[in-house]
Amino acid sequence: MQLFAIIVAGLLYAISIFGEDVTLTDENFSAQVASGTWMIKFFSPYCGYCKRLAPIWEQFSNEQGLSANNLHIGELDCTQYGSICDQNKVNGYPTINLFHNGQYIEEYTGEQNAQAMAEYAKSNAQKYI
Ligand SMILES: *[C@@H]1O[C@H](CO)[C@@H](O)[C@H](O)[C@H]1NC(C)=O
Repeated sequence: MQLFAIIVAGLLYAISIFGEDVTLTDENFSAQVASGTWMIKFFSPYCGYCKRLAPIWEQFSNEQGLSANNLHIGELDCTQYGSICDQNKVNGYPTINLFHNGQYIEEYTGEQNAQAMAEYAKSNAQKYI
C-alpha cells in the first residue's frame, strides 16, 4: 500500500514536471523559444489582472497532455525584461502570446481559464507539428 502511494506520488510529480512552465529572461528567451510551440505569459507582478491570472496559469501549465507535440509553457516578467516584451507585441499585462520555432504567431484572446487555454495550446501544437 505504501509502495503504491509512493508510485502514485512519483507519477504525479512526473506529470507536474512535464506540465511545468519555465521562467524566461532576456538571456534565455530567444534560445528557448527558438524551437517548438510556446505559450508565453508576459506579465507584471503588480498588475491586478496578472495576479488574477497567476493561479489559472499554474493550473493550465499542470494540465495533462501539454508536453506532447513539443509544446512548452513559459512566463516572462516585463518589469525586469521589458525589451523582450517590447519586441514581442506586448502592449499590456498580462499578454499571452503563441510562438512557433521562434516566430510570433498570435495573441491568445480566448477565455481566461485553464481548460480553454489547454485546448488552444494543444490544437495549435498539433497544427505546427
Ligand atoms: C532562464 O534564466 C533564469 C535566470 O537565470 C532561470 O531562472 C530560468 O530557469 C532560465 N530558463 C530556462 C528555460 O532555462
